[in-house]
Amino acid sequence: MFETLTPPEADKIIRIMGMFQSDPRNDKVDLGVGVYRDPQGRTPVMAAVAEAEAQIAEAQTTKSYVALSGDIAFRDALRDLILGDTVSTDRVATCATPGGTGAVRQALEMVRRVNPDADIWMPDPTWPNHNAIVRDLGLTERIYRYYDAETGGLDRDGMRADLAQAKAGDVIVLHACCHNPTGADLNADDWADIAALCEQTGAVPFVDAAYLGFGESFEKDTAGLRLMAGRLPEVLIAASCSKNFGIYRERAGLCMAITRTPKARDAVSGLMTSLNRIHFAFPPDHGARIVQVILASPDLKQSWSDELSEMRSTMTANRKALADALREATGSDRFGFLAAHKGMFSLIGATPEQVVRLRDEHGVYVIDDGRMNVAGLTPETIPTVAKAIAEVLA
Ligand code: LMR
Repeated sequence: MFETLTPPEADKIIRIMGMFQSDPRNDKVDLGVGVYRDPQGRTPVMAAVAEAEAQIAEAQTTKSYVALSGDIAFRDALRDLILGDTVSTDRVATCATPGGTGAVRQALEMVRRVNPDADIWMPDPTWPNHNAIVRDLGLTERIYRYYDAETGGLDRDGMRADLAQAKAGDVIVLHACCHNPTGADLNADDWADIAALCEQTGAVPFVDAAYLGFGESFEKDTAGLRLMAGRLPEVLIAASCSKNFGIYRERAGLCMAITRTPKARDAVSGLMTSLNRIHFAFPPDHGARIVQVILASPDLKQSWSDELSEMRSTMTANRKALADALREATGSDRFGFLAAHKGMFSLIGATPEQVVRLRDEHGVYVIDDGRMNVAGLTPETIPTVAKAIAEVLA
């Protein structure tokens, strides 16, 4: 059966992850996959997470199944944290998923079932798994202009012109904050513009919220998403707890659908449950339970929020330190945009050949498109990375 199988190629992020792991050099620097590192280069278990895990271990008397859609307390708590009171909860269907990717998959599976003719509009560029999942589902992939490499900002005119072509029932993929891979985010006016475009065309926004709390603050990072949720009849949301709770391997995510009516909400809840059932039956519970325990305790929630702020400050400091070091090394402000971007990622503007040189000659690993995980830098590695970039990109 498998004799003629050619294994599918891993995507560019997973490929670089593998190359980094098999590089024997001690001074290699991993700026590939999106994992946060503290100034000592560690990816710590957050204090609130460790405490929640201890409480769970103490209190848990069974590992029996929970529910096909996941624990209702987790789903309600994360829904409320993200949406606040912007939309009546009887219009919000939720299901727990294995990580944010599981939520992206479930949301797009739903689109395929209810409207297989939908075009899925994705920003240029976007996280490669968006494109891969859309293609795998046989949905139609459309790309809208987003990033302007010249300015390190957005191509607003291009974006508007492209999204104006969307038709009713099409889906527009948006990044809630900390755009992956560019780090260039929509501002409040952009969100309002896109909401207006959705009202005019009948397209449905699908917001991927993988980095809430990594941009400006949890509240501010949800602002665009909440604007959509409060204004439009239908919105899809994929939320991840991997980065902002630092529980990557536990795979905790939430798929949410805002519907026109409570009746439609019930139908969507049923579809979500059945999709979970046929894909993996019950979603993982441990990570979801950690999040739920933290959000239910004012002390743990405060500790989590404080540590999240610290992580954000580290990323902001990395951005500034790298931009400063590059200003000094290149004598120009060419990389000044690094300090203005938000979240883990920025595109450094390297060609594929330059990416190979950074890796081969300097042991600096970034993704083929020049995406750098700024959260992978430390005070120790910033000077060498700046020197390598200045030399290779000169
Ligand atoms: C990334 O973009 O590096 C992360 O979201 C990890 C992943 O699964 O790709």
